[in-house]
Amino acid sequence: MSVERLVTRKSISKEEDKYNISLRPSTLKEYIGQKELKEKLSISIEAARRRNEPVEHTLLYGPPGLGKTTLAHIIASEMNSKIIVTSGPALIRTGDLMGILTNLNRGDVLFIDEIHRLSTVVEEFLYPAMEDFKVDFVVDKGAFAKTINIPLQKFTLVGATTRAGFLSAPLRNRFGIHHHIGFYAVDELVKIIKRSASILDTKIDDDATYEIAKRSRGTPRIANRLLRRVRDYVQVKSDGKITKKLAILALEMEGIDEKGLDELDRKYLRILIEHYNGGPAGIESLAASLNEESDTLQDIIEPFLLKIGFLKRTRQGRKIGDKALAHLGIKKSNSLQSSLF
Ligand code: ADE
Repeated sequence: MSVERLVTRKSISKEEDKYNISLRPSTLKEYIGQKELKEKLSISIEAARRRNEPVEHTLLYGPPGLGKTTLAHIIASEMNSKIIVTSGPALIRTGDLMGILTNLNRGDVLFIDEIHRLSTVVEEFLYPAMEDFKVDFVVDKGAFAKTINIPLQKFTLVGATTRAGFLSAPLRNRFGIHHHIGFYAVDELVKIIKRSASILDTKIDDDATYEIAKRSRGTPRIANRLLRRVRDYVQVKSDGKITKKLAILALEMEGIDEKGLDELDRKYLRILIEHYNGGPAGIESLAASLNEESDTLQDIIEPFLLKIGFLKRTRQGRKIGDKALAHLGIKKSNSLQSSLF
């Protein structure tokens, strides 16, 4: 079963991509949150500027929707250079990458999203490009095969991945700079929503902003998506100004509760409580009960439930967290209690 969710961290449409591009900050100064990362990045950028060199290859890792693409664009614009955007799955043959690399100018940023999904041959083709700014291209076959060495301009590779551990060690080690992007605090999301509302020329009061921020799962992309849904609702149902009451009505209509959980999250938790007595339950059994793939549960549903303490992962399997029971208004029964601790 495929899942279409309003609270997914992945981009859900080309329309959404366009909307996000219009909201994207273009300088580090405008960028909200990730204080430490911003400080470190601004030093790397300033040092590179002073040396008149490109920024070192930079690896950004963290869950989707937190700003990896935005940061790659910021590095390029702060360095006054061009950015070329591609992704691991789009680079099928070495020829695809060859074309891109040989067209780079000095200081350009090449952004490879989902870099952990590069094929082994393309990944290995990238090594000399990263290390020595050259590519080894093999022409002809068999006895006539020759390797041509093509020099490249010095460029910056920015790679993005959801987990640094997904990368092979040789690729990971070729990045001089590694940055982790973590979830945003509610007060940071409040600032992001205010900034977005102002760019979109939408009136929103402070309570409504806070309400949307609280339901955004620590993720700017979700915050901006919820803002867009609430804005549509208010435009139709009211005079266009977003108030807390209207924001809650709009989000409830979408099935999103005050923690940012949707119907699928709640169904997962209820099945764990009702069918498995709060756990421990194996991932495959849970997937079968929910009629979902176990990968979907692990990649899409569980990370946020684990983060907010609604779920615990143990050697024996998944267990419900106490906070989830309180949130769903379920009292701990004796049997639940004994299975919980
Ligand atoms: N829009 C999306 N993410 C943002 C961020 N971190 N700062 C400012 N605006 C944003």
